[in-house]
Amino acid sequence: MKTKTLYVCQECGAQSSGWLGKCPSCQSWNSFVEERMNPIETPRGEMFSKQNPVLLSEILIQDENRFETGNQEFDRVLGGGVVPGSVTLLGGDPGIGKSTLALQAACLLSAKGQKVFYVSGEESVKQSKMRADRLEEQDKAKLYMVNQIDLDLIIDQIKELKPDVVVIDSIQVVYKRDFSSSPGSVSQVRECASFLTQLAKTQSIALILIGHVTKEGALAGPRVLEHLVDTVLYFEGERYSSYRVLRTTKNRFGSTNELGVFEMTSNGLKEVRNPSEIFLSERALGSSGSVVVPILEGTRPFLVEIQGLVSRANFGGARQKTQGFDVNRLALLAAVLEKRNGLSLQDKDIFLNVVGGVRVMDPAADLAVALAIASALLDKKISPDLVVLGEVGLSSEVRSVSQFALRINEAHKLGFKKCILPKNNLKNQKQFKSCGLEFIPVETVKEALSCL
Ligand code: TYD
Ligand code: MG
Repeated sequence: MKTKTLYVCQECGAQSSGWLGKCPSCQSWNSFVEERMNPIETPRGEMFSKQNPVLLSEILIQDENRFETGNQEFDRVLGGGVVPGSVTLLGGDPGIGKSTLALQAACLLSAKGQKVFYVSGEESVKQSKMRADRLEEQDKAKLYMVNQIDLDLIIDQIKELKPDVVVIDSIQVVYKRDFSSSPGSVSQVRECASFLTQLAKTQSIALILIGHVTKEGALAGPRVLEHLVDTVLYFEGERYSSYRVLRTTKNRFGSTNELGVFEMTSNGLKEVRNPSEIFLSERALGSSGSVVVPILEGTRPFLVEIQGLVSRANFGGARQKTQGFDVNRLALLAAVLEKRNGLSLQDKDIFLNVVGGVRVMDPAADLAVALAIASALLDKKISPDLVVLGEVGLSSEVRSVSQFALRINEAHKLGFKKCILPKNNLKNQKQFKSCGLEFIPVETVKEALSCL
């Protein structure tokens, strides 16, 4: 049998016949590793029965047979529960709580009568039991556990047990024996995941794959997995803060960018039902540079505090640093403030922080960021009962935001009194006059700055 040697980028899965120092597709350095591919006859044919083409109109869908876990935050990011025959990738940094969440979900599902099979490759069954003992969910759970990393044995066990839900913790440690590249390498991970995916689809199993993340923040290797699976959930947030944010970055069965907020406690991850209150709980009222914005992630609005700090730069160049916000977007907003609004920022360090460990991707936060910087630079306080909404364009115009009503209601619920908002949003929204919030419509960043 002829063996082929290939070099595979461990970040993105790009292949090359020779070693390369820099990956041409994802630009990472020194990521190519030699992998041997046996041209094995993969016995996929045996595993999957032949399917005949059917007319689209004749396909029966049994909708709404999702398995709800009962954990609202987890169900929300999944779009309402796990779908039989779907594959979910749960990613995040080591120690952030992937195994804990998966085990909690597994316990909840099994307590509801689903047959759940938890394959733990990283921890022994005893270790998993010790973890489960800390969780409240395990009371009524009837969960099958195994410590196994050999894919063929796992598949045999799945076929024998016929579970409804399978958790693989983690996909990086699973390996296929007759596939000669080393465990954890991109080819192994991809190969094992695609075997398991096919099995899940044909046997209507809800499969949850846990995946680690590399230092650079990509799902290790598994950027190659993202297209294979139906749903990608990704843990954000600081490992050292107790709040964890779970974000849906892809979902074939629900909306994306949905967020679930959890708190890590001594009894596992607890749902946080009212994240706005928590994100705002430690706000220093009446300090400059702090602005609250109602952002919308997925279908859910919540309020976050954006903090700006501006200080004189050291000789040799100004820095711009952000936490929870795109640094390029900050550079753009700083340029708009400088060029179009005459603020002097070129010799200043600018720091921006989104409180609570959320990553804000919503463009509606632009104006809040601009105001936070301006407020910090001019040392002008922003009224603590004000929220700010609006996307900022390059000519300093304030553009309208989506789902305006949802955001305003959330702000109102938390007791805010005033709102700076894009004028265009008010065009056909007269009914909100009655909601108790005072509106300050603006068309340009300059008008918003004059409210400071
Ligand atoms: P873990 O779920 O093992 O993380 P991952 O699988 O993503 O690597 O656990 C994360 C951390 O959470 C670990 O440091 C211990 C802590 N932890 C708690 O604080 N409370 C708990 O109830 C559990 C189970 C873990
Ligand atoms: Mg783990």
